[in-house]
Amino acid sequence: MDLRIRSFEQYQHDYSKSITQPDLFWDGIASTFKWKKKWNSVVEWNFNDPKIEWFKGGQLNITENLLDRHLEKDGNKIAFHWEANHPNDISKSITYRELYHEVCKLANGLKSLGVKKGDRVCIYMPMVLESVVSILACARIGAVHSIIFAGFSSNALEDRIIDAKAKVVITADGLNRGDKKVDLKSMVDIAIETCSSIENVIVLNCLNSSPTVVSKRDIDYHHLIESQKNECEAEIMDAEDMLFILYTSGSTGKPKGVVHTCGGYMVYTSYSFQNVFQYEENDVFWCTADIGWITGHSYIVYGPLLSGATSVIFEGIPTYPDGGRFWQIIDKYKVNQFYTAPTAIRSLMSFDENLVTKQDLSSLKLIGSVGEPINEEAWNWYYEKIGKSNCPLIDTWWQTETGGVMLSGLGGISPMKATYAGYPLPGIDPVLLDNEGKEIHEADTEGYLCIKFPWPSMLRTTYGDHERCKNTYFSNYNGYYFTGDGAKRDENGMFRIIGRVDDVINVSGHRFGTAEIEDAINKNKYAIESAVVGYPHTIKGQGIYAYVVIGNIEGDEQEIINSISESVSKFIGKIAKPDKIQLVKGLPKTRSGKIMRRILRKIAEGELSNFGDTSTLLDPSLIEDIIKGVKG
Ligand code: WTA
Repeated sequence: MDLRIRSFEQYQHDYSKSITQPDLFWDGIASTFKWKKKWNSVVEWNFNDPKIEWFKGGQLNITENLLDRHLEKDGNKIAFHWEANHPNDISKSITYRELYHEVCKLANGLKSLGVKKGDRVCIYMPMVLESVVSILACARIGAVHSIIFAGFSSNALEDRIIDAKAKVVITADGLNRGDKKVDLKSMVDIAIETCSSIENVIVLNCLNSSPTVVSKRDIDYHHLIESQKNECEAEIMDAEDMLFILYTSGSTGKPKGVVHTCGGYMVYTSYSFQNVFQYEENDVFWCTADIGWITGHSYIVYGPLLSGATSVIFEGIPTYPDGGRFWQIIDKYKVNQFYTAPTAIRSLMSFDENLVTKQDLSSLKLIGSVGEPINEEAWNWYYEKIGKSNCPLIDTWWQTETGGVMLSGLGGISPMKATYAGYPLPGIDPVLLDNEGKEIHEADTEGYLCIKFPWPSMLRTTYGDHERCKNTYFSNYNGYYFTGDGAKRDENGMFRIIGRVDDVINVSGHRFGTAEIEDAINKNKYAIESAVVGYPHTIKGQGIYAYVVIGNIEGDEQEIINSISESVSKFIGKIAKPDKIQLVKGLPKTRSGKIMRRILRKIAEGELSNFGDTSTLLDPSLIEDIIKGVKG
């Protein structure tokens, strides 16, 4: 169903309707989907509990909307072009009908293992088509998927499996990432040693590596599906039944499981996909994210399939075998909309320009950015060299918790301004608050970005701990959803995101809580205490700087640093390894014992004086020591 807004005037009209008559607005959009039963009310909510219900009383199955619905007219249309890690490896394409049958077979396979509606299934897989099949097979039978990015370590996997009390893990023997192979199965084996909820592990053969098999528990993916029927009746779900859990990092504690539900997520991901990317029927869309992050969930899997789109899905990395891989894939599939992260752009900018110019990028109609602020230099390079100053560049701001894009241009129909995400999508009511929680109306004034009214794909809770959801998002400012980001708005109402205002750091578009990294460091045998802060990094956006207090250990400093770095790798994953580790005698603390992170941040940023008020510091001499040992 075509949900596209076609002009800026229509956007203004729809936006205003969505704010003044949200029920009417969303009722119209939701009615274009296939429901088993219509809802009784469009939205019921309060941000105090919080309780948010969209399309209550409605019943549906999201897979009927993204597969069955397309079969008659578009069964032979390509759903995905899968591009392998290396250009010489064989690529594959899958049609909507083939995908439908694959999903049904695995759904029946899961049922044969006793997986039922509401059970949790963890997916820890490479970027292969079977990952999409696994996600949709869960949704088909009403099981709740929880995808864990395959770059996380076995300890991180273990934490998430335990929190979700998952019954099954779907994984692969291993994966290809550039010139490296990663063994996934043995990571799963270690992770589930302590997870009593796990009954089965389904293993896809990707590397022909014959992993160890634990009999009865481990099942070969192809063996499981080979004798299954290729039709599977879709489980009827309430609009507010859980669709998936996705773990994400916050300021405090362990990552939390953000919960999304079936009806609202379906409506908003499809609506935002079509509008933000201005996707037209025969376009080829490519989002380079990994399926393990929200961007992959919403704009590789759900949004495009709900809209009957053809997408590219890529197994590898942008710099293998060389820095021209992305441009070569755009040329190969004649990609029309390309969606990637600033960190990729910044890294690819440094390669020989010939890698770009030798490819034909003329199919591109739109280029997009997501995950972190895009700096002006990267914006200009992307716009000029990739978009040939001829494609709208959309900067899309959103979060795991928001489920879909919140602030962004809509293809070429909205005004564009470098480094500005732009206007809110219809249905989104953002405000900027000051320190007292008052709404800021003046232009160009920084404030805390909050949202005033619910939207269909917002998080409903954090899995197993509703209080945490309330405290994290709804308690800072009464009556508002708090995003954790700072932003400002220009005189025309366009938003610019400044960055996180809490203890979350964004490294290459990946979110980490400083507390989570400190926790991992503190488990190291040398570490007594640590403080982690972010600092500006030319490629990654932010780098991780760790100050670690160690005892009076005689030993090689580099060895200690390596060992600390290994601990982070072990407890979180290589992706969270600190860029700089400085061993210190002590951390600057106030008399009441609070670490003065403000000072540590300044030092990490290279500012070695002007620390402001330091009168509450317990031991000012520590600062001198830290400055002496600072890592360049
Ligand atoms: C940041 C990713 C600036 C922001 C979709 C947010 C951005 C966090 C942008 C969410 C953008 C995301 N400009 N910052 N266009 N997009 N962010 O949950 O700080 O992985 O709060 O979701 O990334 O990260 P998450």
